[in-house]
Amino acid sequence: MEVKAETIAQPKAVAKRHPRALRVLHWLIAALIIAALVFGTFIMARLPNSDPGKPFALLKHMLTGTVIFGLSVARLLVRAKAPRLAPMSSGMAWADRIVPLVHRVFDALVLLMIGSGLVMALVSGLPQTVFLGRGALPEHLDPALLHALHVFVARLLAAVLALHVAGAFYHQFVLRDGLISRMSLRAMRRLDGAVS
Ligand code: HEM
Ligand code: HEM
Repeated sequence: MEVKAETIAQPKAVAKRHPRALRVLHWLIAALIIAALVFGTFIMARLPNSDPGKPFALLKHMLTGTVIFGLSVARLLVRAKAPRLAPMSSGMAWADRIVPLVHRVFDALVLLMIGSGLVMALVSGLPQTVFLGRGALPEHLDPALLHALHVFVARLLAAVLALHVAGAFYHQFVLRDGLISRMSLRAMRRLDGAVS
């Protein structure tokens, strides 16, 4: 009996990349966090509060931090509803076990950065000086403990970022399994399947 082409069931394509919204948010957040880490450590931290350029530097930093907060909340909401991709093995059982944990530690550190920065700015009365131009910056930011926490978490975040990038490059260039393509912004219909 002749079977018409359209009656043959087609195998359902499976997504091989993260959904587009997650990919866009991942790279936007990554670029802004790297900028905040580099700018905060190498420029802002070296300016004394008496420097006339300091309020504008703080303004840019605080706005960037607030945008990172909004985008991170959006990413976590999108992620909660998005279909999950199967994990890619690195060939090392211990590393495969810690990767999901490292990703959640990443999320927690970003939120801790934002929380400590926001509270430190509010308690030190920075918004009035930085956004409204009222008064001068205090000689030292209060409370010192929150400042120390913000700096410590920034160092930890930079270390986890280095580990994350090393892992991604190991997959991409040593194992050559195309892991970075799963996060790529390039239009690649071949990898998208039906779900993208
Ligand atoms: C501070 C910046 C970054 C943050 C906060 C970050 C965070 C994350 C998180 C939380 C995930 C897990 C996705 C999920 O399950 O929700 C992820 C995945 C990924 N990240 Fe990043 N990332 C950053 C920078 C980078 C950079 C610079 C690269 C470049 C090599 C990169 C490459 C990847 C890749 C390839 C994946 C997908 C892994 C997979 O499909 O299993 N990330 N990132
Ligand atoms: C993921 C987001 C953020 C990152 C990666 C980040 C990173 C940094 C870094 C690297 C420093 C310099 C630390 C040092 O070595 O002394 C810094 C300082 C600071 N950050 Fe953030 N930050 C973030 C979010 C925020 C937010 C949301 C605020 C407030 C709204 C904020 C307020 C501050 C303040 C007030 C300082 C102190 C500046 C000084 O030392 O005089 N940060 N931040």
